[in-house]
Parts: sequence; C-alpha cells; structure tokens
Amino acid sequence: MLAARPSIRSLTPSKIRELFNEGIGREDLLPFWVGEPDEPTPQFIRKAGLDSIAAGETFYTHNLGIPELREALAAYVSRLHGPIAPDRIAVTSAGVSALMLASQLLIDPGDRVVEVVPLWPNLQEIPRILGAQVATVPLRFATAGWQLDLERLLDALSPGTRAVYINSPNNPTGWTITRAAQRTVLEHCRRHGIWIFADDAYERLYFEDSGVAPSFLDIAGEGDRVISTNTFSKTWLMPGWRLGWLVVPGALIEDLGKLIEFNTSCAPVFVQRAGVVAVTQGEPVIQRTLERFRRARDYLVGELNAIPGVEAALPAGTMYAFFRVAGMGDSLACCKRLLREAKLGLAPGSAFGPDGEGFLRWCFAASDERLTQGVERLRLALAA
Ligand SMILES: Cc1ncc(COP(=O)(O)O)c(C=O)c1O
Repeated sequence: MLAARPSIRSLTPSKIRELFNEGIGREDLLPFWVGEPDEPTPQFIRKAGLDSIAAGETFYTHNLGIPELREALAAYVSRLHGPIAPDRIAVTSAGVSALMLASQLLIDPGDRVVEVVPLWPNLQEIPRILGAQVATVPLRFATAGWQLDLERLLDALSPGTRAVYINSPNNPTGWTITRAAQRTVLEHCRRHGIWIFADDAYERLYFEDSGVAPSFLDIAGEGDRVISTNTFSKTWLMPGWRLGWLVVPGALIEDLGKLIEFNTSCAPVFVQRAGVVAVTQGEPVIQRTLERFRRARDYLVGELNAIPGVEAALPAGTMYAFFRVAGMGDSLACCKRLLREAKLGLAPGSAFGPDGEGFLRWCFAASDERLTQGVERLRLALAA
C-alpha cells in the first residue's frame, strides 16, 4: 500500500482551509477567517528586499542567518526582554518553521507534551507529526476574559513530561499569561526538567499599557529550558515573506544550525535583508498597527456583545475575537451556512481543537467599513 506514516495520515486537515477553498473566487464575500494583517508590507521594508535582489544577493547564507540580522534581532529582543546575545538567535523561514525546528530539536516519538488550548492548529499538529503524545489544558471562557486554571496546568505537567507549548497572547482567544503564572510555571518546569516552548508571535499585538506581552524570556536565564519562537508576519506586516526566529539556550545553537541545514539550509538572503530594516526601523509600523487594531478590537467586541446570543471577551492581545454563539453545536456547519447565506467568512472554533467548539473566530485586522458590514451580516444571519 502506498501511504504516508500513520501519524501523518491521522493529521486533522485544516477546517479554515476547507472553508477558504469553498469561498475561492467569491468576490461578494467578506472574509475574516485568515489570521493575517490587511495591509501590504510597508514600502521601505519591501525596498530593502528588492535592493538586495538587484544587488545580486541570491546565494545561500549561514544556516543561522546573516550576522546583521542576528545582531539586529539580539538588540531588539534585548531591548524588550533583557540581554540576549546574537549567538542565541537563529533566523528561520517563518514562525511555523521555528516551532517545527524547536520541536525537532527536543521531541522524540512517544514523548509527552502539554499544550494550553484552544490553540492555532499548526501548533497542535507539529508535535503529532513527530509522534509525540499531546495532552491539553483548556482555557476557561468568561466574558471578563479567558482564564487559565494554573493548578490544572501544573498537574498536567507531571514528571517525565518533555515540553509545554504556551502561545501567549493566544491565537485564537487573545488570552495572555500573567507574569505571576509565568513564574510559577517556570519554577515547576525547572524542578521537573520540562522544556517551555513559548510562542511569542503576538507579543507586539498586546493592548495593555506596555505594548509588549510578558515573555518567559523576561524571567528565564540562559541555563533554563526555555525556547522562544517568533515571526515577522504579524509584527511587521510580512506574512508572505516567511521570516521568523528562535531564541534558544546557547548550548543548543550548534545542533539547531545542523537541523536548519537539513530543513531549509537558510532563510532567503533578500528576505533577511528586508528583516534587518524591519527590525531596526519598523517601530513606527508597530505603533500604528497596534492603535488601528485596538480601535478595531474595541469596536468589534462591543458590536458582537450587542447581538443577542453572542458573548465575547475583550482579547488582551492578538488580532482575533473568539466569541460564543448560544446554541451553536457545530461551528464548522455554522461557518458554512454564514458563508453561503450571509457571505461572511469566519473561522470555526473547532478548528482550534475540541475545546474551541461553540465559538467562532473573527480576525479584526480590517477596515472599519468592512467590520461594520460584517457585523450587520452576522446580526441578520443569527436573527434568521
Ligand atoms: C500562534 C501562532 N504562532 C505562530 C504563527 C506563525 O506565523 P508564520 O508562520 O507566518 O511566521 C502564527 C500564524 O498565524 C500563529 O497564529
């Protein structure tokens, strides 16, 4: 029989993709299902990529990235989270690759890992691709904000557990781990030798005062089993460039370089050049995006809560509202109906695991006008 490995055959196909495929070519549709910014990459960042190609930079780079980018990222991460040396940073082909590499580096088949859910589907499937056993700890919904049951997480992090995946701010809920909870989790993981994979993809889309979400990097030392993964996709409006990075303990960097060689060998050099400009000159882009998304969030969550049967918490971070619809048993079926009858594209909560059922995800990286039209379509569809 011609067949992929059992762990690959059992991967769950993306439900968002299933809907997306149904909506292809539909111009009358208002899509809010994909998690990407609605603006193209700023011109000055695009130009850096074009200049690099024009200069003939079309060759391989060092596995860990060009020194300029590793240094720029080290300075950036150090500014946000305290001193990190460039030799702890590896440049990757986007955040998803950073997560796969971190997992390949440390997860063996049969290892037990724990994830806080609901969660971005890619992050749920990566450990499964590697043959790990995945245990989940669900966040609890409250209109005041999603909550982590810390005792439940600590119980799940039993001795022998290899790693915990924490995405904070969390896609899809916007839940953000508190500093106090981080300290408790770090202490616990230190005691039991458990790795913390911190997916910091949305750390700069954080609406509290500081504008930077608490990161495990703030409190971990180089000797801690902590890996932070990150991406240019959201922070600098660069999803199509496929650029990201990892911060790892120095002791792992050489092995990580080998793994990158056998995965992608390196990120494209002209993409890395654009990355240097983004990291060193992109702070105004982040501030502008954050303000725009904050207004969109406040508007959307207010409007959603005004629809009978809908309950939404204000997300502390990300660009998503993850809201409950009373009486909705099958979120995928509901999304298909919204697509067909209301021309509205939302992501089903079940795409983020069974604990997301009963909810819908709305990406609010969109203009006021589109959000207003979308809310009206949802209001009419739910009333029907
Ligand atoms: C939680 C989370 N982590 C990581 C990523 C990685 O993004 P990319 O692969 O575009 O860098 C995403 C993208 O949606 C995400 O939602």
